[in-house]
Amino acid sequence: MSEKPADYSLTNGFESKTPFLIGVAGGTASGKSTVCQKIMEKLGQQQKEQTERRVVCISQDSFYRSLTPSERVRAERGQFNFDHPDAFDDKKLLTILKEILAGKKVEVPEYDYVTNSISNRSHTIYPADVVLIEGILVFYFPEVRDLFHMKLFVDTDSDTRLARRVPRDIMERGRDLEQVLNQYMNFVKPAFEEFCLPTKKFADVIIPRGADNLVAIDLIVHHIWDIMYKKRPRVNGCNGFDEDGR
Ligand code: CTP
Repeated sequence: MSEKPADYSLTNGFESKTPFLIGVAGGTASGKSTVCQKIMEKLGQQQKEQTERRVVCISQDSFYRSLTPSERVRAERGQFNFDHPDAFDDKKLLTILKEILAGKKVEVPEYDYVTNSISNRSHTIYPADVVLIEGILVFYFPEVRDLFHMKLFVDTDSDTRLARRVPRDIMERGRDLEQVLNQYMNFVKPAFEEFCLPTKKFADVIIPRGADNLVAIDLIVHHIWDIMYKKRPRVNGCNGFDEDGR
């Protein structure tokens, strides 16, 4: 499926307990998080305790870099470009992903969109079989992109994305309408066209209509399940998934 499917069973098979890393890219409010949630639900993971989850999801937003005092002031006015690759700490993302691939437990900070900074809360990500990383620019940085075993691009039209983003930013991210629209026109839209959209070509699977596309999500889940079920040695007749094999 990606450039390295043949290698997977040899070098990245579950026998070596290397997680299967899936990148999920797409424009703002395209439904990346919902696609990830649905994949996790269908793999029967949502109802499990964090420590028992075999499929986990991380957001690229946890890897926004800290702002300088002057950038902080601009951010509060909606005049900072959070959609430019420079807004991210890609080295930190790379380090954490390498640790995950090495089977280590990692701490991933939570991002606070109201203060435009990393909060003091974090999530512990325990070693898992499948790790989903979602974000607008997860395919932008070549070293990060090359780590993914599977790349998905959530392709939702821009009107739908804007219609979702406006109420979300006002209700959940403490913004006002004028600020949201200015930020969208000045930064979000141009950066989407310059940095995010060109990364669609790296995707193995493009998901039109995003999370509404249950057929695509089902196909992806079956593929993940096939990899996990067929490649993982069964222990006591059990492969670790629920009874229906999910
Ligand atoms: N952003 C922001 N303020 C910040 C940090 C990020 O407005 N302090 C915005 C950026 O403009 C960027 C967006 O957050 O466009 C990235 O988050 P997005 O991809 O929209 O959120 P998800 O919930 O991950 O996406 P989806 O709706 O696709 O699940």
